[in-house]
Amino acid sequence: MARPIIIDCDPGVDDCFALLTALASPEELEIKGICTVAGNVPVETCTKNALGLLTFTGRTDIPVYQGCPRPIQEAPVFASHIHGETGLGAARLPEPVVDARPEHAVAFLIDTLRSASPASITLVPTGPLTNLGLALVEAPDIAEAIAEIVIMGGAFETGGNITETAEFNMYADPHAADIVMSCGRPITLIGLDATLKFRCTVERMKMLSDARHKTTDLISEMIGHVNDIYGEIYGEDGAAMHDPCTIGYLLAPHLFEARTAHVRVETEGRRGHTAVDVHLLGDAKPNVNWVDGLDAPRLFELLLSRITRL
Ligand code: BDR
Ligand code: CA
Repeated sequence: MARPIIIDCDPGVDDCFALLTALASPEELEIKGICTVAGNVPVETCTKNALGLLTFTGRTDIPVYQGCPRPIQEAPVFASHIHGETGLGAARLPEPVVDARPEHAVAFLIDTLRSASPASITLVPTGPLTNLGLALVEAPDIAEAIAEIVIMGGAFETGGNITETAEFNMYADPHAADIVMSCGRPITLIGLDATLKFRCTVERMKMLSDARHKTTDLISEMIGHVNDIYGEIYGEDGAAMHDPCTIGYLLAPHLFEARTAHVRVETEGRRGHTAVDVHLLGDAKPNVNWVDGLDAPRLFELLLSRITRL
């Protein structure tokens, strides 16, 4: 039976890659809804992109719920210098043929989780954790229905990508991330220690263009833009494909290496830094399955084989 999931995202180039992979995997994943949040670009743009992607794939049956326009406490930070003003790099999506649902994403999360069986819904946040953090504050009882939270976020040994020590999603809303980390449900955190090993190399860009499919063309245009921006930093290694690692993990966890850890998100000082304690020092209790390795060639083959099904 397909695993029910809710994707909470800020599309965003790599969020789109994650969404496409999930849409292409109905045998394993049932997408109950897509929530959007301010992150890479303003939330209205994220919502338009999610709806455009569903229009592009003919899956307008999946409901989209617009969420928070800013983090809980901090001023919003965007990443349009990387993802472009539209959030889509050099790609264009069709104008959406449907609207977002009128319900707010936080209300959708609360209503859906409240009416679900215990440990039945998997949440997949690939943006700042504002929606889920607020939902857990407003309705702590919803935690019971969460089977697992598979998050793209965090950085430890690699250092950060927005400050020396912080990854973007954790930095954008550290207070929400802190709430989520302590919710008591199983959390898998896929941070930069893993995702920076998953690059869109020249060879993989060629695999995308050789596939000659509408989804691989779209992803090529998106990632090509990020590669151009990051060229001097990443060179032939290409940009990292962060967010699709979450869906890859759900489809094939054996392609990832993970360790049990206690993870705390710093809200002050090194804002957004994930302090990862794999030795469980002092009173620390494990709260996270910390992913720090992956099999990049096999993961890329898996994602490519999925998105060319659409
Ligand atoms: C994360 O930040 C965003 O820019 C990406 O979409 C990804 O979710 C990587 O740090
Ligand atoms: Ca994202």
